[in-house]
Order: sequence, then C-alpha cells, then structure tokens
Amino acid sequence: MNVDLLIRHAAQVVTPRGRGPLRGAAMGLLTVIPDGAVAIREGRIVAVGPTREIEAQITEAAEILEARGRAVVPGLVDPHTHLIWAGDRAAEFEQRLKGATYLEILQAGGGILATVRATRAASPEQLMAETRARMDRMLLHGTTTAEAKTGYGLEWETERRLLDLLHRLNAAHPLDLVPTFMGAHAIPAEYQEDPSAYVAVLIEEMLPTVAAWRFAHHGLWCPPWEDGRAAWFCDVFCERGAFDPEQTRRILEAAKDLGFGLKVHADEFEPPLGAVPLAVALRAVSVDHLVSTPPEHLEQLARSETIGVMLPGTSFGLGSTRYAPARRLIDAGGALALATDLNPGTSWCESLPMMMALATRYMGLSPAEALTAVTLNAACAVGLGHEIGSLEPGKAADLVILEAPDYRHLAYRYGVSLVHTVIKRGRVVVQDGVLRIPEK
Ligand code: NIG
Ligand code: FE
Repeated sequence: MNVDLLIRHAAQVVTPRGRGPLRGAAMGLLTVIPDGAVAIREGRIVAVGPTREIEAQITEAAEILEARGRAVVPGLVDPHTHLIWAGDRAAEFEQRLKGATYLEILQAGGGILATVRATRAASPEQLMAETRARMDRMLLHGTTTAEAKTGYGLEWETERRLLDLLHRLNAAHPLDLVPTFMGAHAIPAEYQEDPSAYVAVLIEEMLPTVAAWRFAHHGLWCPPWEDGRAAWFCDVFCERGAFDPEQTRRILEAAKDLGFGLKVHADEFEPPLGAVPLAVALRAVSVDHLVSTPPEHLEQLARSETIGVMLPGTSFGLGSTRYAPARRLIDAGGALALATDLNPGTSWCESLPMMMALATRYMGLSPAEALTAVTLNAACAVGLGHEIGSLEPGKAADLVILEAPDYRHLAYRYGVSLVHTVIKRGRVVVQDGVLRIPEK
C-alpha cells in the first residue's frame, strides 16, 4: 500500500471507536495503542495500529512524521459556538463581577443585545478579521471542526451577512464549520413590545429564506450528513427573557419541515422551562446547557436519541460553581458531548482542552469520557459521526499530535496549549504549535 503520510512511533494513539454516539459506560472505553501509527491517503485514514504492523502493510510513504514521546488523538470537534460577532463585553464582565446577573443585564438591553448592536454596525472586514483570529486560536488548540451559530444579527440583512461571512471563512480556513441559523437567539430591541411578531418573522420570512439560500447559492460547507443532506442546524434560546417553550416549539417545527437539524439552548438558568422534553419530542440532534435540568428530564434525555451538550466554560465564565449534571446523564445511559459555547458574554474561550479540564474536576468525568465528549460524541452532536471524531480507516484524516506522552494530559494540565501538530484532512495545518495554513 502507498500512502501520503505516515505518523509513526507515537507514544500512544488514542481513540473512541465507531460512528457513535457512545452512551453510558461506553463513553469511557478508548482504544489506546502504544507505539502507534496512523496511515493517511487522499485526506482519509487508511490504517491505524501498532507501528510495526502498519509499516508491514506500507510499501511507500510520501511523508513520514515521527511522533516519539507524543500522544495522537482525533481532531477535536466543538459542537456549540457563537463564533461570529464584533467587539467585546469586558465592561459587562466587570459589572457581573460586582454582582449584576447575566439575565438582568440582558433585560436592561445589554448582553446579547449589546453584541447585536456592535455586530450590525461592524464592516464585513472587521467581522472577518475578528472571527478569523478566533478560528486560528481554535485550530491551535486542536479543534478541526466547529459548529458556528449566527444570532448576533436578529434581522435578515445582518443574519445573511453573518451566514455569508461564515461561508467565506469556511472556504478560506482549514477549520470546517457546520452552520447553525440562530435568528432565535434573543428578541431584538425593535420587537421588545411584541415578541410574537418577531417569531412570525422568523417562521414566515427568515427560515424559508435561509433554507432557500443554503441550497441555491452555497452548496456544502462541511461533509454532508449520512443521508446526503447538507449539514445545517436551527437553534433556539429557550429561556425566561428569550423564547418561551411554545415559541421554541413553533420555530423548531418550522425549521424541521425545511430540513434543518434541530438544537436547543435549554435550562442554562433557573427555572427550567421544560425545553428538554420538547427537544426530545422533536427529535433534536442535541440539547445544550442543561445546568438546571431536573433529574426526570435528564433521564428522559438519556433514553432518547438526542445528545446532551454541556458547556462547562459557561459556568466558569459566569463565575458560577454550578456545573451541569454530567454524571447523572452518563450514569443513566445518555450520550454526552462537551463544547466551548465560545461567545463574548458567557464563555470567551476557544479551547476544548480547557473544557476537558473543567469537566473532569467539576462534572465528574474521567479523562477518557472527556475525550469521547470532545471527539466522537461531539461529531455526533453535529450529525457527522460517520465522517469524523475517531481515528479509524475510512474517516477523514483529522488528528492532533500532543506535546505530551499520554492523552490524559489534555485534561490534567490547563491554561496552556499542549497541541504540537494538527492535521486536517491529511494536511499539516499546525506544526510545532505554530499555524501553517495553506489555502483550502
Ligand atoms: O449560550 N445563552 C445564549 N447564548 C449564549 C450567550 C451569548 C451572549 O451572551 O452573547 C450562551 O450562553
Ligand atoms: Fe450558546
């Protein structure tokens, strides 16, 4: 067999297996191959195993990477980000440190609405530059695929600009983006007196236009879902002060009819509004946050096909010691993924290893479960478990070589990047911890 790239003599090659998601106790079952190798041809993995066995199958390797002393893991997948916005909310951060709450700031017209104003006013060049810098940081921390929500436009013109820019960034940058339309991120200032009129605009105007736009102009962004459909999601912030469960249901039903995969921001704050049973009934691909979700709803989630996405960076970012009950979901047999929630309000952090560090300490995950939660299960949370999320023949060659001999260092150490090399679809895009970005 001839290959384009052979990575060999890794201290360990570590991966969950299959198309996932892994549920319950299976989340902790990783394959660990000492002195491991991965062979890559045409952007896909063709063989994984002990170096001696893999080398015996190879007649020629165009390029060889020695990974002695380093662990190799799948490229990380971030299944929940609000990637594209302008400006920052450092002043609000300081207000919150003095005691103002997130929802109080939002209700006073700040929070998401402050970022909406900055985003509407920003030039496309500014939005591109700020977002691209975030994508670079994600890649440097080992993320090779990320979901990216709109939702700082809240009017068609700006939402469309955000979609268009995300599409251009996706084309120009090695990080693959899975787009999510989140026009239902907040009630825009213009509709504060009549939120139901905004819900009508979302359902009758914006969603059909996004659906038409995605097919007519732009084709595929990332690999398609297994059924061949373009991977696209619609998400709603179901919370007091945002969208109530009835509005959430109507928006998501309309999105489903148009072929979107569904996601819900559920139970980020008190009180829980019942968004989890709603997401399960609508067969949402994921339901995200789950900090205040009651035990009976978690158990219902665990029995369903919907993946729970928990966002420990958001608890940490808000200075809260209350983390989502991950252990309960996993112990009930559920499938859990972790994400950064990257956004300027609650969690400005591009690093999934940081989420692993938090989840192991505050949510009771083992390092193995945390790795599954940011690889295979995260891939499933964007509908791409057949394509990415594990190191197995046939999957895309997205992988990370760590500056550490054991995958557990990813959760054990924190605050610095342990990423040595990132390979995206068979190409080196980070080398020695430094970006090396070719045109896509
Ligand atoms: O997931 N809660 C809604 N959306 C984000 C926060 C967005 C913002 O504050 O700008 C979240 O926490
Ligand atoms: Fe979010």
